[in-house]
Amino acid sequence: MSSSGGSGRRASVRGFLEMKQEGRKIVAMTAYDFLFARLLEEGGVDLILVGDSLGQVVLGYDSTIPVTLDEMIHHARAVRKGAAGTFVVLDMPFLTYQVNAEEALRNAGRVMKEAGVEAVKLEGGSSTTCDTVRALVTAGIPVMGHIGLTPQSVHALGGYRVQGRGEEAAQRIMAEAKALEAAGAFSIVLELIPGPLAQEISAALTIPTIGIGAGEGCDGQVLVLYDALGLNKSFKPKFLKRFADLHEVAVEGVRAYAREVREGTYPGPDHVFGSAPGSS
Ligand code: KIV
Repeated sequence: MSSSGGSGRRASVRGFLEMKQEGRKIVAMTAYDFLFARLLEEGGVDLILVGDSLGQVVLGYDSTIPVTLDEMIHHARAVRKGAAGTFVVLDMPFLTYQVNAEEALRNAGRVMKEAGVEAVKLEGGSSTTCDTVRALVTAGIPVMGHIGLTPQSVHALGGYRVQGRGEEAAQRIMAEAKALEAAGAFSIVLELIPGPLAQEISAALTIPTIGIGAGEGCDGQVLVLYDALGLNKSFKPKFLKRFADLHEVAVEGVRAYAREVREGTYPGPDHVFGSAPGSS
């Protein structure tokens, strides 16, 4: 099955704009490998994000900061193969776009050529980031923005905490959203900001907002796959709903396998090839 809000065609930048205009919610989820990408496509998501959350959920890093462009491209290529009919966005990792617009363009260009994705995502809404967004969009690379909690700046923000509380902080995030839209972003992720602020931003923009921990007022939602499917038992933020309990299912499966191997009941007669030595 291909994505795009059930229309049967791969979603596009234009399609996401139409979905917002028609009030159809955009369904996004992260993926990092071939098999899960295939499951997401079968499940009918509109957009797959190869997030740099890869660092924490797949590679075991403490934050997204150590993730490299090579690691992102490696995983995005697998996702591309698993979900050929779905719009895929690659998260540009820390320091691949912040130095200057020229370096960002070179790195994002490499992503488009080597990973075969449809778009890239950058964190931040400063005027420097917006200049970079403009340069990428001018070169024909669709860009998704990401404001509110921006995990690559976790140390500057003092931790993974809700952003945009208080009038001044809220106004700053609203200004960043408008500036990213003006710079040509096709969509913006709003992470961990108060619901009413996310709703106001979504109403003020023409482009769709995709929320994570930002309430129901966004034009779409994104979740980290492993969190949404209950693979990561220890991660329990307020905004997260688990839509499956794969941790329990997986551990039970491993236990059953271990038990049967130890008991000698697996492999049984149905799981073996050929005839026994000496039989006719
Ligand atoms: O890296 C990621 O998975 C993300 C989403 C949480 C939006 O940026």
